[in-house]
Amino acid sequence: MEVRVASKAGFCYGVKRAIEMSKDTVRNRPGPVFSLGPLIHNPQVVAYLGKLGVREINNLGEIKEGTLIIRSHGVGPALLNAAQELGLDIVDATCPFVRRTQVVARDLMTKDYQVVIVGDKNHPEVQGIMGWANGKAEVVENPWEAGLVKARGKKIGVLAQTTQHMENFNAVVETLEKTGSVVQACKTICSATSERQKAALELACQVDVMIVVGGADSANTRKLASLCRACGTTTYHIEEAGELDPAWFRGVKAAGLTAGASTPDWIIEEVKKRMSEIEELNGSEEGMKDAVEVKAVRHGEIVTGTVVH
Ligand code: F3S
Repeated sequence: MEVRVASKAGFCYGVKRAIEMSKDTVRNRPGPVFSLGPLIHNPQVVAYLGKLGVREINNLGEIKEGTLIIRSHGVGPALLNAAQELGLDIVDATCPFVRRTQVVARDLMTKDYQVVIVGDKNHPEVQGIMGWANGKAEVVENPWEAGLVKARGKKIGVLAQTTQHMENFNAVVETLEKTGSVVQACKTICSATSERQKAALELACQVDVMIVVGGADSANTRKLASLCRACGTTTYHIEEAGELDPAWFRGVKAAGLTAGASTPDWIIEEVKKRMSEIEELNGSEEGMKDAVEVKAVRHGEIVTGTVVH
């Protein structure tokens, strides 16, 4: 079995930057260091940062002092103000591409557009962007939901959660254009996401089985897995090497491997190594199946043995 890794996979710029900023913060700032929610959607990396001293909280009410790291997903202005009022030190690790999206949302809202965000309503990045549009944006996940948007005589300004798939964004824009409103489409999808999606899709179309590595809660990893499935290839979404099942690879000639933007290189390497070990294991089992017991008569005695083809 050949194991092929997607040409673009794993940590993106924004996630790498947030992790480096967190490491610097625990090294250089006195007092406790917190992140509001997991710093990235990868439990193994969060555990590693926890050991270094980054503590996770669920809301600001849990702390009275210390340093708060803003995750790469970003937050809305209300939360930033609340943290400042508490007197917390703030380290803003919002990914610059997410920040750009927040600025676009605020500008559209200021210019009296009806802001439409294409994305997942429950994702922290979308909730943060929503805050920059004064909570007045509509969030749609697909063209069907876009058909329900009420522009109320306003121009529509549409932008996307950075991890969205471009085809979905374009389909939403097309639907909104049919309402007769003026539509300003702002392409805020991050190229790291689209590059990973393109590489995953290309690879998925060439292999018998795809392994997608990343946190179970990672939206961009789940999207990679759904794209691979959409091209008809059996796809498994795992968090770490220990979840690989040798049965997935029986009879497989080529297996593909990709990973979400919050998956570190060391986990990708472990999964790749385990896939190669499984290949050897399955290969030796195949060899045993092909072994045939033979009997022969030599010098008048029956002798037995096995022949491996
Ligand atoms: Fe930023 Fe793009 Fe990563 S928006 S966090 S570089 S996926």
